Amino acid sequence: MNKTPVKVAVTGAAGQIAYSLLFRIASGSVFGPETPVELNLLEITPALHATEGVAMELFDSAFPLLTGINITDDPAKAFDGANAAFLVGAKPRGKGEERSALLGANGKIFGPQGAALNDHAADDIKVLVVGNPANTNTMIAASHAKDIPAERFTAMMRLDHNRSLSQLSQKIGVPTTEIKNMIVWGNHSADQFPDITYATIAGEKVSDKVDAAWVEQDFIPRVAKRGAEIIEVRGSSSAASAAAAAVDHMRDWVTGTPEGEWVSVALPSDGSYGIDEGLVAGVPCYAKDGEWVRVEGLDLSEVQRAGIERNVKALREERDAVKDLLV
Ligand code: NAD
Ligand code: LMR
Repeated sequence: MNKTPVKVAVTGAAGQIAYSLLFRIASGSVFGPETPVELNLLEITPALHATEGVAMELFDSAFPLLTGINITDDPAKAFDGANAAFLVGAKPRGKGEERSALLGANGKIFGPQGAALNDHAADDIKVLVVGNPANTNTMIAASHAKDIPAERFTAMMRLDHNRSLSQLSQKIGVPTTEIKNMIVWGNHSADQFPDITYATIAGEKVSDKVDAAWVEQDFIPRVAKRGAEIIEVRGSSSAASAAAAAVDHMRDWVTGTPEGEWVSVALPSDGSYGIDEGLVAGVPCYAKDGEWVRVEGLDLSEVQRAGIERNVKALREERDAVKDLLV
């Protein structure tokens, strides 16, 4: 067993997503069965007591890989020496709200956290932002962390990706694991563009197995509005499935994706695919040697360009709304 624990910071540790995520991290689902983990839990001061209760349950689970838990309301302490950070702590939206409406309440959380990561995290820090609106919050955090390579700041598209796999799996009647190279471009918002252009099942194109009208009229809106549907039906926003997606994202980042397979990751743009440099948008990626690598040079159809452009427009609007929070 690798004896050096990986230091993992999780914000919003007393919240709903963390209540699922922390137990999966501690059980080895992210960093593997050979890697011990030390958890740094960040919460706002009024939630520290509840966080202690979560830590008690983590200890009571007797996870063999869990070496210690530190609880704090100070980002500098939470990110000290951190190798991975899950930025979950933020307000969820309510029924009928768009995620972008959370920018006023949540945006200001991410500048100070980006700065604390910059000053205190380990050199190999990997940051996954889950708190909404995740893409623009990621841009805010990255802008305060100029010493950390921008591509170490990622926003979560994996829940949208997994929702796409689930819808296709149910429609076509194959396990989700057989569907490769599904891509969700753009923003984690209702504008997102779930794109089956490259998706295959056993080497055959998914687009040959489903009706184009179903894709346009059912599949894309269903996936794009699934968060709102969960809020409507469950009464609160997705939590366990969000944690599962966060596990998938970080695990793939750490251990790598299978040769030739892509997943959906929101990275700060390098200007490719018509996405303004710095906007954080979902693109096709694979993971190798502990880094996400953007798939380059894909030829885009008119439909794909329009789907991406819709997201660029929305992300520009979000960027303009938070210009005072960017440095
Ligand atoms: P929750 O309200 O149950 O928990 C959020 C926790 O964050 C609370 O305990 C709160 O005290 C804490 N918090 C608030 N400000 C903080 C700060 N500055 N530092 C540390 N902790 C802080 O919410 P939840 O259901 O866990 O959702 C968390 C966020 O994740 C929401 O913004 C939600 O919309 C978002 N979300 C994103 C995705 C995605 O796919 N990106 C999926 C689901 C939910
Ligand atoms: C989701 O997609 O489930 C989350 O972003 C929560 C939400 O507000 O929809």
